[in-house]
Amino acid sequence: MRARRAILYVPGDDLYKIQKAISLGVDCICMDLEDGVAANRKEQARINVSQALQTLKFGDSERLVRINPVGSGLEVLDLEQVLPGRPDGVVVPKLENADQLRWVSAQIVKAEKSNDTTPGSMIIIAGVETARGILNLAEIIDTDARLQALIFGAEDFASDLGATRTAEGWEVFYARSALITHTAAANLQAIDQVYVDFNDTEGLIRDARQGVTMGFSGKQIIHPKQVIPVQEVFTPSDEAIARAKAIVEASESNLEAGKGAFAMDGRMIDAPIIKSAQRVLEKARAAGKI
Ligand code: COA
Ligand code: MG
Repeated sequence: MRARRAILYVPGDDLYKIQKAISLGVDCICMDLEDGVAANRKEQARINVSQALQTLKFGDSERLVRINPVGSGLEVLDLEQVLPGRPDGVVVPKLENADQLRWVSAQIVKAEKSNDTTPGSMIIIAGVETARGILNLAEIIDTDARLQALIFGAEDFASDLGATRTAEGWEVFYARSALITHTAAANLQAIDQVYVDFNDTEGLIRDARQGVTMGFSGKQIIHPKQVIPVQEVFTPSDEAIARAKAIVEASESNLEAGKGAFAMDGRMIDAPIIKSAQRVLEKARAAGKI
């Protein structure tokens, strides 16, 4: 799976920012039609995004478009105008159930046919950020092979609960953890919450590190300043890579010798630790580090 360490939102009605985003070396660019765009700018945003997809070169950055939620009344026009530009994927916010995902997928199937695009090439990333969505995670993860990742939106989720956002974040901890558990069960990526204070790099790094610890593969970001710190946090360090390599190598000879558990540097190594080491190497490979 491709690296999605950072997904940068860009308001779709701002062509200058779309061009700027392309120059930043970010894993994914998500041109937004939803909450980053005022109601009276939706049409302009669709026009800009469609034009950007058809005329700009995005380099190695993944080209994503976030549509408005299914049921908002805006989603049909969003997809109609944006899919002919063949984005790499569609981000569906506030997804609450499997039927909504099936509907988006069916629209993509139609667009792929009329565009002559390879069937199945466009991916879906779903934002699960409401109470109802979190309760329906189990049906959502198994609905469609296009689904590659789930995104957690802390601000939307807290607002749906009537909770207040705090620096510690306990009010969203259950939902973050539930989302991670479900994505792991389905072998999908999990993308963590936005850190809205874009001048506070220290806080951003702390928040990103907590996400890594929990098992997230990447983070949503909103400002150019956040690209480098977040991508760095979500890339395994040289030390972590060296240790993972040593564990995998040692496990091969030990398993051959019939030892499922063995000692390394005074610590026990067994199957789950070996699996984690393999994951570190996979992430390093996806990030181009090995
Ligand atoms: N993508 C690309 N470029 C961006 C950017 C973004 N998300 N956010 C800021 N920039 C650019 C600005 O255009 C500016 O460019 P310049 O120096 O060449 O003029 C530079 O980065 C510095 O921006 P700054 O002045 O610090 O911020 P701002 O006041 O222009 O914008 C926000 C602040 C929050 C409005 C802006 O970061 C933004 O639009 N973020 C995304 C919002 C969004 O999509 N929200 C919905 C998803 S949660
Ligand atoms: Mg949101």
